[in-house]
Amino acid sequence: MKAAVYPGSFDPVTYGHLDIIRRASDIFDELTVSVLNNHLKSPLFSVEERVKILEEATKDLPNVKIDCFSGLLIDYAKKKDVHVAIRGLRAITDFEYELQLAQTNSKLSNGELDTMFLTTSLEYAYLSSSSVKEIARFHGDISMCVPAFVAERIYEKYGHGSCR
Ligand code: PNS
Repeated sequence: MKAAVYPGSFDPVTYGHLDIIRRASDIFDELTVSVLNNHLKSPLFSVEERVKILEEATKDLPNVKIDCFSGLLIDYAKKKDVHVAIRGLRAITDFEYELQLAQTNSKLSNGELDTMFLTTSLEYAYLSSSSVKEIARFHGDISMCVPAFVAERIYEKYGHGSCR
């Protein structure tokens, strides 16, 4: 069985992430989307909230599982016996960081964890979780960035109550 893990912060998941998830789930038999529990960041959504949002957003994809992890990705992948990590590439600006991450993971795992990049579909290339949060904080329209139920959750966090 071909399995892969798609690690990330997903704070919050965007249409860009969902596009990568859908396409990776077509390539692999099983895809685990795993939310990093990063104590250094102060996220908008807790890990539990992000897991729930991802579960809801991917419920139509039967071979996609949602999980979370802390610590090193290579240790998590080893525990899960998964040898491919998926990452999305939006633009050349992502490349340097992603290449370093992929090479570090390959080196640390003695080649046991490879990284497969999927280029983000052009329509989502401008999207980032940070810009979604910034737009929402100032009451902007994020309907083109995230599913409606996610938008509502984000606006709630900023005390706006409803979508617009
Ligand atoms: O969505 P993000 O924040 O760009 O995802 C980054 C992520 C989670 C893939 C990366 O930070 C990660 O794998 N962190 C876990 C710690 C780790 O293994 N780091 C690599 C060696 S420095």
